[in-house]
Amino acid sequence: MVGWIALVIGPTAYGLIRRQLPHASESFGKTSILGRADEFQAKTSKVVYFGREKVIIGRSHNGSFHAVSAVCTHLGCSVRFEEENDQGIFVCNCHNSKFDLEGVNLSGPAVMPLRQYKIEVAKGDIQLSAVGDAAGL
Ligand code: FES
Repeated sequence: MVGWIALVIGPTAYGLIRRQLPHASESFGKTSILGRADEFQAKTSKVVYFGREKVIIGRSHNGSFHAVSAVCTHLGCSVRFEEENDQGIFVCNCHNSKFDLEGVNLSGPAVMPLRQYKIEVAKGDIQLSAVGDAAGL
């Protein structure tokens, strides 16, 4: 009986705790080229994988790019990018937590920010890389 409980509860508890703790990125120090900036329309978004990390890229009405983890810090649902009235925001599909363009939680049940990624355009290519140093990850 104890073994069965450990088998069922263990992985769930591990996943919940791991999601709340800062962690080192497997892709730290790497850069990915995501494609041409002129092929990415304003007020749209796309989800990409950066290593094994799911990242959502949003492009605002003014052409600026924003990249955060696509996995909500509440219970791990996917987030989407919205832009209304020229104000961009990331919103969780499950319980409606809202995050600003840097991933800072604004409202909803999520109390931790989304991980932010560095995104820039160089020679027309969109480049994605990790943000932070080893102490911050
Ligand atoms: S999983 Fe995102 S708000 Fe609950």
